[in-house]
Amino acid sequence: MKLQGSFSPPGDKSISHRIGLLSLLAAGACRVSNYAPGQDCASTLAAVEALGGSVRRQNGELWLEGMGGRLKEQAYLDCGNSGTTMRLLMGLLAGVRGRFTLSGDESLSRRPMERVAAPLRRMGAAVECRDGRPPVRVIGGGLKGIAYHLPVASAQLKSAVLLAGLRAAGATTVLEPAPSRDHTERLLALCGADITGEAGIWRLEPSELTLPAALRVPGDASSAAFFLCAAAIIPGSEVTAEGVLLNPTRTGFLSVLARMGARVQVEEQGAEPEPWGRVRAAYSPELTGCRVTAGEIGLLVDEVPVLALAATQARGVAVFEQVGELRLKETDRLAALVSQLGALGARLRVRGEDLVVEGPTPLRAPEDLDSLGDHRMAMTLRLAGLLAGARPAIAGQECVAISYPGFAETLEALLS
Ligand code: S3P
Repeated sequence: MKLQGSFSPPGDKSISHRIGLLSLLAAGACRVSNYAPGQDCASTLAAVEALGGSVRRQNGELWLEGMGGRLKEQAYLDCGNSGTTMRLLMGLLAGVRGRFTLSGDESLSRRPMERVAAPLRRMGAAVECRDGRPPVRVIGGGLKGIAYHLPVASAQLKSAVLLAGLRAAGATTVLEPAPSRDHTERLLALCGADITGEAGIWRLEPSELTLPAALRVPGDASSAAFFLCAAAIIPGSEVTAEGVLLNPTRTGFLSVLARMGARVQVEEQGAEPEPWGRVRAAYSPELTGCRVTAGEIGLLVDEVPVLALAATQARGVAVFEQVGELRLKETDRLAALVSQLGALGARLRVRGEDLVVEGPTPLRAPEDLDSLGDHRMAMTLRLAGLLAGARPAIAGQECVAISYPGFAETLEALLS
């Protein structure tokens, strides 16, 4: 069994969330094509509608009507499994007059929200969590800008503070300890916000926004990563991902694959609304483990599970430094990787805050595996099973629909 052929990953999840949410504050209207089809971005649209926003679906496209901040003054918002929906909404709603309650499913209800609440309180919002977790209550309005040093390289946290800053008195500045995805900054600029910055320091003045008339969401690099990484380790494979987002804050996994010795080719084909293009990856028999530094993690945070799978097939030791944040994702991804890839015979261990993978290890057919309700674990395990020449039962496999509802069909189409 090998992977061969072309595929187009679904629209990028991070950009989709953000354009949906910005329609709440911006004026104008936007025709969005290739909006992410997964459940997480549907949670964002449901929240937009619950706040009074207008979302029309027509011929596979989305028509968003800008609300200019005229939202319902009270709302109960179910964010489902989506941490991005909840954290970005906390920031956005902190700047809007009203009382809002945000809740989520069992997994989201275990995830930390206090880290977002703390800077929003400093800005003047009333934000309550239960033991630092959802449900979250936000009473918004009357904010003042702050200078905020992010304690972790988190795009969700950075975005929450920036979105709150849009309606604060005075400038808001965020300082990042290491780079993380910059879609909020880019989209704010595209909507006309007064935002400037580089090298990890962003400064935003309170701004009125206008939606772009049309926006095509590039394919999700994090979704493409599953098949690109799998192609590098499954003998005889060669796959091409079309229309993929190539924003450098999202393509860290391609640099790591290349450093491991994988055959990867990138061809940029467009720059709107962000760089995008074609990526080809082919089986590489001589992969070697490498060091992925703490400063790089923000550029590939969601790809660590599938990169760890790739590292099981590389010679030597791969170290992912300072990946403690992975404990706070949809499940504890460090524990999940050690237990589930370990069940296939992979040699992985957590050393302090680092993940260490030794290879190469031929993976053996497992009995059954558990996604632990985490979509990225479910896809990583499906590909690990393939490498082991097996089709193990994976508990909770249906959660792939959180980010990649077409994953199984694309996998079938690429298998030969
Ligand atoms: C995201 C940021 C990342 C990432 C998540 C999406 C975003 O989370 O893991 O899947 O769209 O901003 P953190 O910012 O918490 O690391």
